[in-house]
Amino acid sequence: MEMIFVTSNRGKVREAERYFSPLGVRIIQKKVEYPEIQADSLEEVARFGIRWLKDKLEAPFFLDDSGLFIDALGGFPGVYSAYVYRTLGNDGILKLLEGVENRKAHFQSVVAYYDGELHIFTGKTAGRITREKRGTGGFGFDPIFQPEGFSKTFAEMTTEEKNRISHRGRAFKAFSEWLKENLI
Ligand code: IMP
Repeated sequence: MEMIFVTSNRGKVREAERYFSPLGVRIIQKKVEYPEIQADSLEEVARFGIRWLKDKLEAPFFLDDSGLFIDALGGFPGVYSAYVYRTLGNDGILKLLEGVENRKAHFQSVVAYYDGELHIFTGKTAGRITREKRGTGGFGFDPIFQPEGFSKTFAEMTTEEKNRISHRGRAFKAFSEWLKENLI
């Protein structure tokens, strides 16, 4: 079967392809920009995205809304992650955390699938913000995020390694289990 992934982020598509192709699901990327509202939770942002898209695209399709939450910054950038990545980037985050001992952070992902009804799948990964950028793989904040229990950053991992433990990989796992029960 084929699944439409609404995103302009090639890195997310690569992860989805690696995750779903062994399950016989072909991922088709659809680049439709949808408004990312200011809200208190990723789930609200994802729900709004689906509401906006559902009259414009033929179902079924899914999207992913993710964020990086840094403990020492009270959970910032969280729902503002895309804006902060565009403006401050990884160097800006490292600068904000200069001299800060508590490096704890986590990623969260909300995958929203719409097939006439909305289905939400979530994943979370705890870790820490490194003191410098490491690795060239992945995308976004990957070079500065080291998941708990691992010595590599996400950017030093292969897509398969990252998928096994990442927020998005975990949301994809819940999604694929649901698909197996309901569709595949
Ligand atoms: P969004 O889900 O596209 O809104 O992503 C929010 C921001 O977090 C973007 O700047 C992404 O690059 C970044 N981001 C989302 N997922 C990941 C990830 O798995 N690793 C690193 N950065 C990510």
